Amino acid sequence: MPGKITPTVLLTLVMFMITPASQADAVDTRQSLGLSDAEQIEFLAEMRQMLASIQGIVAGIGTEDRDAIAAAARLSGNRMARATPASVGAKLPQSFKEIGGPTHLLFEEIAIRAETDDMADPTILTGRTLEQCLACHARFRAD
Ligand code: HEC
Repeated sequence: MPGKITPTVLLTLVMFMITPASQADAVDTRQSLGLSDAEQIEFLAEMRQMLASIQGIVAGIGTEDRDAIAAAARLSGNRMARATPASVGAKLPQSFKEIGGPTHLLFEEIAIRAETDDMADPTILTGRTLEQCLACHARFRAD
């Protein structure tokens, strides 16, 4: 009978619904930084530190703990920029540095503003910092 939902039709429908989209079709359009395995390990450790800084800043804003905000922010500020291994720095394209440099400066600014400003200021700056994270992650990959 036309239109009847037989067990075979039902099974086909269920299979269709639970089969994930093919991974083979996914295209990574991000630019590779061409880092070696050892460079990637250091680079990604700095990235995880930046995420930890964001966590510390947000937690500090929540409790109005100004010292905690400043301490968390400084870990990803100029100190981190200076600590980037020379071999990694040499490989990073200008377009990467144009996003990365201001990101470290924003962390320094959060640390300074946290000392006296209303908590809205470090919150707004944290939002702006996260925009930098998103912009760079959309463009580059570490391998
Ligand atoms: C200037 C570029 C740039 C900026 C800015 C940036 N990242 Fe990244 N981040 C990268 C790249 C490239 C990778 C590697 C992605 C890949 O290879 O898939 C990465 C990876 C990471 C990872 C994964 C670490 C791991 O162990 O795999 C975390 C977490 C991360 N970033 C957090 C952050 C946070 C938080 C910020 C902002 C405060 C940030 N990043 C800003 C470029 C950037």
